[in-house]
Amino acid sequence: MILGLETSCDDTCAAVIDEARILSNVVSSQAAFHERYGGVVPEVASRHHLELVNAVVAAALDQAETGLAEVDRVAVTQGPGLIGALLVGLSSAKALAAAHRKPLVPVDHLHGHVAANFLVPDPLEPPFLCLIASGGHTMLAGVRDYRRPRGGRVNARVLRRRSRGATRSMSEQPPFDVLGQTLDDAAGEAFDKGARLLGLGYPGGPAIQAAAERGDPEAFEFPVAMSERGLDFSFSGLKTALVYKVRDLHPDEVELRRADLAASFQRAITHQLVAKLRRAAQTREWPAIALGGGVAANAELRGRTQALCDELGLRLKLVPISLCTDNAAMIASAARFTEPIAYPDYLSFDAFATGDAVRAA
Ligand code: KG4
Ligand code: ZN
Repeated sequence: MILGLETSCDDTCAAVIDEARILSNVVSSQAAFHERYGGVVPEVASRHHLELVNAVVAAALDQAETGLAEVDRVAVTQGPGLIGALLVGLSSAKALAAAHRKPLVPVDHLHGHVAANFLVPDPLEPPFLCLIASGGHTMLAGVRDYRRPRGGRVNARVLRRRSRGATRSMSEQPPFDVLGQTLDDAAGEAFDKGARLLGLGYPGGPAIQAAAERGDPEAFEFPVAMSERGLDFSFSGLKTALVYKVRDLHPDEVELRRADLAASFQRAITHQLVAKLRRAAQTREWPAIALGGGVAANAELRGRTQALCDELGLRLKLVPISLCTDNAAMIASAARFTEPIAYPDYLSFDAFATGDAVRAA
């Protein structure tokens, strides 16, 4: 059994998994606290994590009908994310693991989103293309030969030998190829910033989606960053275009046409995501596409990706929404395929705010 913790942004999460089976997956969302500020306030997030983490871990163990002594290892998000928020999860995980001399598995948050696909029900076998689109990240991954499980109980002596001298963190390079990532804003960030500009509240994705249902996606033209041939994403031009559009319209017209603006803006984001998926899929190496991250909850993105898969004869894998948005079961899932670090070698490990730092570490 693996106990997972995730506190990289504004959700305090703990979960217990047994192999690919989720025994508990507890998420305490702070969204309501951040709503009034129109986005996540890092210091507020850290404070709430601190207040919530013990209760959330206790609830996860309780629901799984187990105790810390029964857990084989503790997995925790080490980065990327908000540094103060990450530190709460990492310190708690270290304390929990160290108290029982258990190994710790520091996990890259993006591994977690990819590894959500390996959980029951319906675990997905590589190879597949995986688009992770969330508030903090947009990444297109080519996942091959991921499944190198290190199951069973861990031999502490072997582990200690393996991790001796480790001052760093993530014990392996990501077991997938990063085919593309955002050059500026993340897709979810574009939704959040767009919603703020349109006065639609936070989090922006669901608010834009709801407003878009009553709007015409062809009403306004927004730029779609496609000029380069590669698979990277860019959303900052789109955000700027919305700033200008809102500025140029009379406030009454913005009010009147908010649904059209939301629908057209949503169309531009999903258009780019699906266009890059199409480019990647055209190599014909990938029999399946998986979507992850909070933006994978978007109905238009799901619908358009389904249409792409139907057209190309690919399988579309959609994990339940509870596994798309941040959760600790996905972190525990990634830990099944990541080298654990023996006690006490992880005690000096630090958290990392950016993915680059994680990979360079
Ligand atoms: O994965 P997630 O819960 O946290 C991060 O790692 O960031 O993703 C949160 C993001 C937010 O930007 C939110 O606006 C977006 O996912 N989101 C959506 C939808 N639901 C959540 N975006 C578009 N449509 C949705 N239905
Ligand atoms: Zn995430």
